[in-house]
Amino acid sequence: MTPNTRILPYGTAAIADAASLIRSGQPVAMPTETVYGLAADATNGEAVARVYEAKGRPSFNPLIVHVRDLAAAERIGIFDDKARTLAEEHWPGPLTLVVPRREDSGIASLVTAGLDSIAIRVPAHRAMRALLAAADRPLAAPSANASGTISSTRAAHVMRSLAGRIALVIDDGPCPVGIESTIIACTGGAPRLLRAGPLMIEATIGSGDTAIEAPGQLAKHYAPSKPIRVNVTAPADDEWMIGFGSVAGHSTLSRKGNLIEAAAALFDRLHDADAATQPRIAIAPIVDEGMGIAINDRLRRASV
Ligand code: TXA
Ligand code: MG
Repeated sequence: MTPNTRILPYGTAAIADAASLIRSGQPVAMPTETVYGLAADATNGEAVARVYEAKGRPSFNPLIVHVRDLAAAERIGIFDDKARTLAEEHWPGPLTLVVPRREDSGIASLVTAGLDSIAIRVPAHRAMRALLAAADRPLAAPSANASGTISSTRAAHVMRSLAGRIALVIDDGPCPVGIESTIIACTGGAPRLLRAGPLMIEATIGSGDTAIEAPGQLAKHYAPSKPIRVNVTAPADDEWMIGFGSVAGHSTLSRKGNLIEAAAALFDRLHDADAATQPRIAIAPIVDEGMGIAINDRLRRASV
């Protein structure tokens, strides 16, 4: 937690300050043309865990990764012809494309919540573009608001929601668009509209007969293919044990019992467990507070 949240007007000094926070693994609130985003280094799982902590998100939804251009996007996602055409026509701009994730993307597994697809956007706003250039890495950024509250379109909204929870807000006035990006999935077959938004391009993506899934419920959640037993201190012989703190296992979420480290490691450890020879997965008790609430929510959903 960060007791003093600074607000700086957009400018060279503010962006340098923000980039250095990003490099040290801290989230920073930054305007985009749609809404303010809470940006973090997408290659650093603990930085991404701090975004969830600041938002107080009770569960892990996959996040949008912001990059400078299509070339950078193609280093983390796989674009077919349709995806590339949409990107060339609408980027930079308020369009997010969900595409298959590249194996070697380098993106932390917490960003995609373990999925093999990834949501990518090239923003048009000068502040977010300047931060992407200065930080020189992809930035995961959900809307900069506490979980369960509406998106922020001004720095003052971000402060109302997240003051005391983040180190820095860059103020560059109200967001010109003011609603979240249109999301289109290009993961094979015809592109599908997942979230209606500022760009209405149904013409490009077909007849519009596909139902729009509710925001936040868009992604099919990753779950291991094996049964999971939670709150385990003594695993059975046929279980791959994931430890936490003083409870040891074949692997551990965090030997120190650190919840930020555990959140960052969660999907990697679940994937390891899935690949192990044991037919079942057991997992140590995780304290049900702070980030532990989100971890436990995710494990409960994976264990049914
Ligand atoms: O305009 C925007 O999109 C803003 C600015 C900051 O870029 N961001 C934003 O992020 O609205 P967020 O986290 O509030 O919403 C991201 C949405 C979620 O509904 C999530 O389920 C969906 O994107 N999403 C992310 N990755 C996905 C994936 N691999 N498959 C399907 N949906 C995904
Ligand atoms: Mg949001």
